[in-house]
Amino acid sequence: MNVAIVGASGAVGQEFMRVLEEQKFPIDNLKLFGSERSAGRVYHCCGRDCTVQLLRHNNEDFSDIDVAFVSAGGSTSIEFADVITSGGALMIDNSSAFRMEKDVPLVVPEVNGDDAFNAPRRIIANPNCTTIQMVVALKAINDITPIKRVHVATYQAASGAGAAAMDELVEQYRQIGAGEEPTINKFSYQLAYNVIPHIDVFTDNGYTKEEMKMYNETKKIMHAPKLDVSATCVRVPVMRAHSEAIWVETEEPVSVEAARKAFASAEGIVLVDNPANKEYPMPLDIAGKDPVYVGRIRKDLTNENGLSFWVVGDQIKKGAALNAVQIAQYLLKKGGLK
Ligand SMILES: NC(=O)c1ccc[n+]([C@@H]2O[C@H](COP(=O)([O-])OP(=O)(O)OC[C@H]3O[C@@H](n4cnc5c(N)ncnc54)[C@H](OP(=O)(O)O)[C@@H]3O)[C@@H](O)[C@H]2O)c1
Repeated sequence: MNVAIVGASGAVGQEFMRVLEEQKFPIDNLKLFGSERSAGRVYHCCGRDCTVQLLRHNNEDFSDIDVAFVSAGGSTSIEFADVITSGGALMIDNSSAFRMEKDVPLVVPEVNGDDAFNAPRRIIANPNCTTIQMVVALKAINDITPIKRVHVATYQAASGAGAAAMDELVEQYRQIGAGEEPTINKFSYQLAYNVIPHIDVFTDNGYTKEEMKMYNETKKIMHAPKLDVSATCVRVPVMRAHSEAIWVETEEPVSVEAARKAFASAEGIVLVDNPANKEYPMPLDIAGKDPVYVGRIRKDLTNENGLSFWVVGDQIKKGAALNAVQIAQYLLKKGGLK
């Protein structure tokens, strides 16, 4: 395959390089793209040195590309979608720009992989990171009995806001330790020693855009227009991997044993649920890992049909780069790519 990474210097772009190597993705040629900031930089990936090219309005740059992994923000995706796809390249986009468009599939391979075959605009959207790890877990329960509604509180790592946000968190701890005033650019407030109940902008209904992404994207991925999700998204001073406290109400009651069995056998999930030994997933252990981890499974005390559990996933991996590469792998395996 001839592969392009757009936004190669970013947190997700860098992860794309690691994931393509780890997954031994079949690459003939690799092209990297960025803005003036990173153009000319050289990265080593998949056994070769690649120089970042400036992303331009030149269709020729993508005429030989089979699949382009794009993670350069929504406005760049919108501006360059035609340039990227005009020669037939499949664009797998990590931004929120196209996720809710009817003619763009929104895909998590473990949940709705076949939707990837219906991409008339040659664009497939990668869902929001918090949604990806949640729907992988929801699918396991939904296969037992349909889920009626979901409440979720997220604990989202600094890296969800990009490479500069990681640097800012490290720098804030250093500055505070040195008695200096912390620099605040990427977040609304100081994140070090704090949690911030605000991710993305507020919408008219009082929820943030991040929270409404979980509401809208879950319905689309799970083909469940009546499945409502009420989310509270919170930034926490964790470097990498998002955690989620999830409460589901199902049509029929699900026992803890049945839920454990379903999670243990589900694709893409690792069950870590042994409270007696203090075993449960935590972001520090899960950072850099591929699967979604589930633990703390228990019956909801207020509702016979309610179940609570805790889900942790590396949002740059499964929540972004890995899921996108898995979409390409899914299509490749089933003859839907090249
Ligand atoms: N971080 C996460 O956990 C995560 C998870 C899921 C989805 N996403 C999404 O993935 C995208 C990238 O996120 P990130 O965290 O990787 O951000 P980031 O670390 O800030 O990186 C942004 C990347 O976009 C490139 N870029 C920006 N403007 C560009 C332009 N006009 N032309 C070409 N390249 C341009 C940058 O290249 P230069 O350095 O050359 O400017 C850089 O490589 C965003 O849409 C984000 O919402 C992120």
